[in-house]
Amino acid sequence: MQVGIDKIGLFTPNKYVDMVDLAHARNQDPNKFLIGIGQSEMSVADQTQDAVSMGINATMKYIDRIDKDKVGLLVLGTESGIDQSKSASLFVKTALKLKPEVRTFEVKEACFGLTAAVMIARDFVRVHPDQTAIVIGSDIARYGVNTGGEVTQGAGSVSMLIKADPKILALNDGHSAYSEDINDFWRPNASRVAMVDGKYSTQVYLDFFKKTFNDYKKQKNLETSAFDAIVYHLPFTKMGLKANRIAVEDQDQAVTENLETSFEASKQLSRRVGNIYTASLYMSLLSLLENGNLAAGSLIGLFSYGSGAMGEFYSGSLVEGYEKEIDQIKDQAMLDHRKKLTISEYEDVFNTALEDPEDGVVLESDDKEGTWYFAGTQGHVRQYKVK
Ligand code: CAA
Repeated sequence: MQVGIDKIGLFTPNKYVDMVDLAHARNQDPNKFLIGIGQSEMSVADQTQDAVSMGINATMKYIDRIDKDKVGLLVLGTESGIDQSKSASLFVKTALKLKPEVRTFEVKEACFGLTAAVMIARDFVRVHPDQTAIVIGSDIARYGVNTGGEVTQGAGSVSMLIKADPKILALNDGHSAYSEDINDFWRPNASRVAMVDGKYSTQVYLDFFKKTFNDYKKQKNLETSAFDAIVYHLPFTKMGLKANRIAVEDQDQAVTENLETSFEASKQLSRRVGNIYTASLYMSLLSLLENGNLAAGSLIGLFSYGSGAMGEFYSGSLVEGYEKEIDQIKDQAMLDHRKKLTISEYEDVFNTALEDPEDGVVLESDDKEGTWYFAGTQGHVRQYKVK
C-alpha cells in the first residue's frame, strides 16, 4: 500500500515587503538581498495572524474536498507556538469542525516540525489505512527590525492530507536522519524573536545535507541521477542553491541541468513569501509542482533541516494526475493580492505584532472574506474568528 500526500494547501498573510525597498532602507546593495540572499519579497504577519489562524487558512484550501469523518490524526508543527501547554492544533480542530475522536497535538523541533508530523502521519496511516491525517506547519519567522536575519523573515503555513493511495506524492520507504545538540538558532521563552548564529547555521545545514543525502543514496543503492528533483528547506533561496550545488558536484551536464531546472521551479514561492520555518520545505515542493514540468513517477528527494539540529532526507514518487490537485493560479493570486508595505509601515506592523493585545481588546482583520484570524483574548483565552 502506498501512503503519501493527497492534498496540499498554502496560506500566507496579506502584506509584504519588497526586498529592494528593504535594502535601500538598510543601506545595502539590493543585489545582496536579490542575488546574494536570493529573496525578492517577504510576507508580513500583522497581529491578527498567528500559527493557529494561518494553519486553519492553509487547511481551508482543501477541506471541502476531503472526507472529514476519516481524519483520525491532526498534527501541527510550529516554532511560533501560542501557548506553553495547550496545543495550537486544538484551536485548528475546532475551526475545521473535525470529530472529537481525532488524536491531535503539536510537535516541535525548529523547522523540522512538519517533517516530524509527516513521518508520524505516514506511520499512522500505514497502521490505519482507512483513516487519514492532516499535518500542518505554520510559522512566522522573526529576527527583528534592522538585524542580520531581517531579510530572511516571512510568514505562512502549509497543510497536507496524508492518506493511503495518495493523489500527489507517494512517500517511499526509508529515510536518513541525523541529529546533533548544537546552538545555531533558537528562541528562548522570553523572546519573540529568534537568536541565531547565521554563518554557523548555514555550515551545519550544508553538513547535514551532505551526510543525509549520501547516507540515503547508499541505503537505497541510488545514484544522484535517479532523482528528477530535490527540494530543500529554504530559510532563504540561496541556502538551497548552495545545497543543490553540492548535490550536483561531479555530475554530468544532463543531471546538473535537470536538478538546476527543478531547483529554479522549487524556489519561486519561497522567493516571494520568505522563510516559513516548518512549512518551508513543503512550500518548495508545492512550488516545484506548480512551476516545474515533472512527469508522473518522477523521483523527488526532500531535505528537511531544523536548527538545534535535526536533518532528514527522504523521497517520494509523483502520482499520475497530481496536477489536478494543484491550483497555481489561486496561489499566485494570493501572493499578487498582498498589500505592499512601506518600510515604516512594515516596522509598525512588525513591532505591534511582537506584543500581545491587551486582554479584552477585540482585533479586526483587514484580510478578505473567509479568512480566519486571531481576534484577541477574552479572559486570556485566545479567540479565533472568520471574516
Ligand atoms: N551582490 C550579490 N551578492 C552579494 C552582494 C551583492 N552586492 N553583497 C553580498 N552578496 C552575497 C555574499 O557574497 C553572500 O553570498 P555567499 O553566501 O554565497 O557567500 C550573501 O550575499 C550573503 O552575504 P553575507 O554572508 O555577508 O550576509 P549576512 O552577513 O547579512 O548574513 C545570513 C546572511 C547569515 C543568511 C543572515 O541573513 C542570517 O543570519 N539569517 C538567519 C539564519 C538562517 O536563515 N540560517 C539558515 C540555516 S538555519 C535554518 O535553516 C533554520 C531556519 O530556518 C532558520
